[in-house]
Amino acid sequence: MAMTGVLRPGHAQLRVMNLEEGVRHYRDVLGMVETGRDGQGRVYLKCWDERDHNSLVLREADRAGIDFVGFKVLDTTTLDKFERDLQEYGLKTERIPAGDMMETGERVRFEIPTGHLVELYAEKTQVGNGLQKLNPEPWTPAAEKGIAPARFDHLLLYGPNVAEAKKIFCDVLGFYLVERVLGPDGEGEAAIWLSCSHKVHDIAFVEHPEPGKLHHLSFMLESWEEVLRAGDIMSMNKVPIDIGPTRHGITRGCTIYAWDPSGNRFETFMGGYQPYPDYEPTTWTFDGLGEGGGLDYPQRKLHESFLTVVT
Ligand SMILES: [Fe+2]
Repeated sequence: MAMTGVLRPGHAQLRVMNLEEGVRHYRDVLGMVETGRDGQGRVYLKCWDERDHNSLVLREADRAGIDFVGFKVLDTTTLDKFERDLQEYGLKTERIPAGDMMETGERVRFEIPTGHLVELYAEKTQVGNGLQKLNPEPWTPAAEKGIAPARFDHLLLYGPNVAEAKKIFCDVLGFYLVERVLGPDGEGEAAIWLSCSHKVHDIAFVEHPEPGKLHHLSFMLESWEEVLRAGDIMSMNKVPIDIGPTRHGITRGCTIYAWDPSGNRFETFMGGYQPYPDYEPTTWTFDGLGEGGGLDYPQRKLHESFLTVVT
């Protein structure tokens, strides 16, 4: 098996200002499956085609944003190794006991210089995707409920010291750089898209003065038609749309950005290409983000909200 180490972003804990309103959005409009509620009042959800018990945890709080993102690693031996590697790199790590999150094993948590809490974990109960393991159907009725993304795919975070975060992800955790936007003066990197897999991005960062900010969580659809259908469902439910439906030049993904009832941006998208770790990264100038079509290829403009609205 070629895929080892970090497998994917497996869960994110999101703050919502009204829990039931948040549940209605992510369960009934986005179409995720509610899989449990814990003693702390948190609600657990997964996308229909995900195998693990949860990929999104909603926590009621007085401000929106992200508490942490967790990446699933291959096994506990890999988890132990990354813990040692992170410590040797100079980061402080914390072991969170199994069961703190429902159906989830021990997590190794650390803070990165952008001000975000990142976790690694190896174990989460596999509840399946509702399909048989032998001679399965291609989809289930859950695949048509709401927008019904197949999986939580990636996230974009805003914070300072992106270059330092890149070192941790690339030098310690085995990610590679897929695309980047240079700073306004042509120096440094204003934004980076990193992959730990064959996906065009598993996590992305934009340099931003305030630490710990969330730009969006992204959920994967399988066709452009499904992206348009997502736009219809958002409109039917009065979900405020930020950008799209359109195509990003960066990653080539076809997308809609919209806001949940607490103001957290989420994305429903399809497509993009499949890079390999030996590919040369693609570079965009800072102007390329706007008039070069990096953000919105058809319109070739920089939507103000992309750089300014985060939670
Ligand atoms: Fe995205």
